[in-house]
Amino acid sequence: MKLGFIGCGVISTAHLEGLEQLKKDGKQTFDLTAVCDLRLDRADAFAVEAEKRLGSRPEVYTDYRRMLEHGGLDAVSVLLDHDLHHMVAEDCFAAGVHVQMQKPLAISPSFGRKMLSDAEKYGKVMTLSEPSVLGADNVAMARAVRDGIIGSVYMIMDYATVTLRRKFFAGTAWRHMKGRAGAGWINDHGVHRTHFFTEVNGPIKEVFAYTEIFEKQLSDGETTIRPTGEDTSVTVFRFANGGLGHWMCSTAAHGEGTGGVWIYGSKGCFRPGRYAALEDGKIIPISEIIERYAPDVVRNPAIAERKEPISSAERGLEALGVVFAALESATIGQPVRVQDIIFGKRHAYEDTVIEEMKSFKR
Ligand SMILES: NC(=O)c1ccc[n+]([C@@H]2O[C@H](COP(=O)([O-])OP(=O)(O)OC[C@H]3O[C@@H](n4cnc5c(N)ncnc54)[C@H](O)[C@@H]3O)[C@@H](O)[C@H]2O)c1
Repeated sequence: MKLGFIGCGVISTAHLEGLEQLKKDGKQTFDLTAVCDLRLDRADAFAVEAEKRLGSRPEVYTDYRRMLEHGGLDAVSVLLDHDLHHMVAEDCFAAGVHVQMQKPLAISPSFGRKMLSDAEKYGKVMTLSEPSVLGADNVAMARAVRDGIIGSVYMIMDYATVTLRRKFFAGTAWRHMKGRAGAGWINDHGVHRTHFFTEVNGPIKEVFAYTEIFEKQLSDGETTIRPTGEDTSVTVFRFANGGLGHWMCSTAAHGEGTGGVWIYGSKGCFRPGRYAALEDGKIIPISEIIERYAPDVVRNPAIAERKEPISSAERGLEALGVVFAALESATIGQPVRVQDIIFGKRHAYEDTVIEEMKSFKR
């Protein structure tokens, strides 16, 4: 499979490392033959790094449409800012190329729906790079919880706060503007969490949230912005199977950040990445859970066999739907059904995102 990368920024290096690891493990089903970035210096440097790690130097482009036209590619990995995902995906499908998309799938559920229908229209596969459900420990955890290792799930608690000192998350001002990022951190970081919640315990039915922009101005010393994306959200939700969730995230914490996830069931508690603590006092370490539930995890040649990938774009849309249900709820002051967001019945918040998006020149 001839593979191209569009975008040679921060996360692209992690993907290159992944390709290198697959090659080392003798699971190379691809050749990275082309890379593209608007910035020639980045694309060039990335091609050099790719040659070092994979043994051959990919062609360099600064215009992804040219790369799609001349690269002879089978698939691309799209590693671009959130607001470009839906546009670039359509160009890729139209050029006959499969897509691995970065999270969040898009900056709005309606764009996400369009991407799925474009993939279908052109007969192409779209997967989502969602680390919270990939890898042996995450796959094993989801399978173990669904298998009832902690009984039936009563509640999930997930808290994440970071201290930015009124600077930018990941050094990027755009991540705080909803017209570029879909929302504040509740989208950029939040889709990881909502994808994880639904992977572990099935669909979320209804969501209620309060959100706030506490920090009215952010600056890194050079650039100063007035953020339009929320810096804090407090959310409660109910799963279709009756379980409850309490989820908070904030980039406006001062003095001390925090992070922790607890999944409580009728027989015990799961601490993701660590262990399951059962009511009889038994602690099952994650290593044992991986051995039992995910011995096959690296074998997932989704595109080659056309089987449903673990981290599919459909599941990415569902994750986005939960985030936007929270944002919609905070906008209208009522609980919101996730299905109403996914199918476009409610879109008061989304409308504000698209309006702001149109005001940015691309
Ligand atoms: N899976 C994860 O855990 C994870 C982690 C980090 C980032 N991401 C996602 O990856 C995406 C990129 O994030 P990043 O941190 O690497 O951003 P980044 O800003 O470091 O990189 C984006 C790159 O795209 C280039 N670019 C912008 N417009 C372009 C265009 N039209 N054509 C070609 N190149 C263009 C930029 O020059 C830049 O080099 C985001 O959607 C982000 O959410 C995912």
